Amino acid sequence: MKQSVDFQDFIDEVIAKNDIVDLISQYTTLKRVGSRYQALCPLHNDKKTPSFSVSPDKQLFHCFGCGAGGTVIHFVMAKENLDFMEAVKLLAERSGIAIPDFRSSAEKDKANAIHEKKKRMYQMNAEAARFFFSKLTESGGEVALSYLRGRGLSNSTIKSFGIGFAPDTWTSLVDFMKTKGYTEAELVEGGLAKKRENGTAYDVFRGRVMFPIIDLRGNVIAFGGRTLVDNQAKYLNSPETLVYKKKENLFAMNIAKNSKAGQFLLMEGYMDVVSLHQNGFDNAVASLGTAFTPEQAEVLKRYADKAVLCYDADEAGQKATDRAGEILRAADIKTRVLTISDAKDPDEYINTKGKEMFEHMVTSAESFIEYKIGKIEKQYNLDDTVEKIEFVEQIAKILANIKNDVEREIYIKKIARKTDISPESIKTHVANIALKARRGDALKERRVEKREFEARTGGRQDLEKMRVFNAEKLMLNLISERDVFLEVSERLAPEDFSEGLHRRLAEIIFDCHKRDEKINVLKVLAQFPEEEAGCVSEILSDDKNVDNRKEAAKLPLKIIKAYQMKQEEKDLAEGGDTEKLQEIMNRLKKDKK
Ligand code: UTP
Ligand code: MN
Repeated sequence: MKQSVDFQDFIDEVIAKNDIVDLISQYTTLKRVGSRYQALCPLHNDKKTPSFSVSPDKQLFHCFGCGAGGTVIHFVMAKENLDFMEAVKLLAERSGIAIPDFRSSAEKDKANAIHEKKKRMYQMNAEAARFFFSKLTESGGEVALSYLRGRGLSNSTIKSFGIGFAPDTWTSLVDFMKTKGYTEAELVEGGLAKKRENGTAYDVFRGRVMFPIIDLRGNVIAFGGRTLVDNQAKYLNSPETLVYKKKENLFAMNIAKNSKAGQFLLMEGYMDVVSLHQNGFDNAVASLGTAFTPEQAEVLKRYADKAVLCYDADEAGQKATDRAGEILRAADIKTRVLTISDAKDPDEYINTKGKEMFEHMVTSAESFIEYKIGKIEKQYNLDDTVEKIEFVEQIAKILANIKNDVEREIYIKKIARKTDISPESIKTHVANIALKARRGDALKERRVEKREFEARTGGRQDLEKMRVFNAEKLMLNLISERDVFLEVSERLAPEDFSEGLHRRLAEIIFDCHKRDEKINVLKVLAQFPEEEAGCVSEILSDDKNVDNRKEAAKLPLKIIKAYQMKQEEKDLAEGGDTEKLQEIMNRLKKDKK
């Protein structure tokens, strides 16, 4: 995006109207220390010493622990996991600033064109769905209708799901859609037709029962087509298109989102879902011909925080249960598992045992954790001491991952009863595992810090380089003030700073002073990529706790200069220029005085 002057004004206003202390106070308790605030970092798991610092004067924050830092915008980006514009929008809304449309007219045209194209694809799909639906009751459709009847579906179920039939011919849909004004190219792009070698188009779905897939706003976005014969793939699904993203949509979610049940029933098949709805379970949904995704979990979560996994009884269904369960737990959705027995899937179950039995199964479904414990239990003989210990080991690993204390306590008691081991010792064991995991995280964090330092210093990790690096940071902070800059500017140039971020920042600071401009931290920050904002804010906002800043500049200057000469000396010695070397040695001696 081209950043016009207007745009910068808008960003400035957003920053000005959202006081950083006020905003961050909503996430962590800030404690005043001198001219700044300190806190436990709300952006990483900061349990020990407060490593998070906010400067009200500069309206910046940074954290020594995780390296994050910058303006209120950077904070919201990190905390809410948003991109730059999303964070700006959120802050604008928070402070009642109207958001202007900054897109160029070309960008607006492009967005409009995509919008129009999508609209037309929705209309095309709706038209196709009507075509398929009408074919079910026309001659040729008898096989399909009797098939659906045979599977127990009523007229009203067929109608409310818009189930249809694609005739077993090569171009009936293509021909029909052409009379409605759609081109072959559009049908191909929408996944309804394919091109032959000679360039003509033919129907993708032939001789299949058609299930329209409908998004949350009621648009038909794709189809799943079930075969009526045995020698083909059972289901053929629309490819991904401009309007169809498999991993973000769920079958029947357009109906289930309005359910009053307060939870979703997650199944594997289209037919399972349709059957369940016909029996009054309007909260049944299915993922679309693929495994359940985190994106789908987010969609569910917008409407309810509970789900019951009702996958098929076979081994594939069990594996899918394990994976979907983990995804749901990660999304903080309370998950239970309904294990189908005496039937292969929910559809068969409800048709043979009735809805009351299914309802009973739903209400008595065990939690996902209980389900996992049960599966592990089957692998061990708890009468054998060695196996019992191994069993508890396995279970403790699962329990250590439960964040909720009450929930964890309940399972610990259950396992205690099951194994006749005291709840206290199981609890200690679980706590130890959790502690080790946290220590591992902390270690990982420190390793990341070290790697970042190495990256910035070009992989050198010796102490001397570290010392110079810190001296440069202090120097950059000090020379952001004009009087300090004037004091050292004769002896210091941007080239004296390490290549990379320090040098670039030095160049900007020197430039500003040379043009007699005051350093505007926000403008400086804008010249660095997001991932460097933390580092720059740390350098510029850190309150170095020094009374006399001119005086304070002496030591870092000495360190920087000495190191630099030593480097030159080394280079020259390697190059063999003895005369120059002598000159430098003399200068060095003088400097040390
Ligand atoms: P199932 O084989 O369990 O299908 O596959 P189903 O919906 O229960 O159908 P019936 O009862 O046998 O008629 C579960 C889901 O996996 C996807 C479909 O989304 C299906 O609903 N699937 C299955 C495919 O995408 N392609 C296939 O070939 C098979
Ligand atoms: Mn089935």
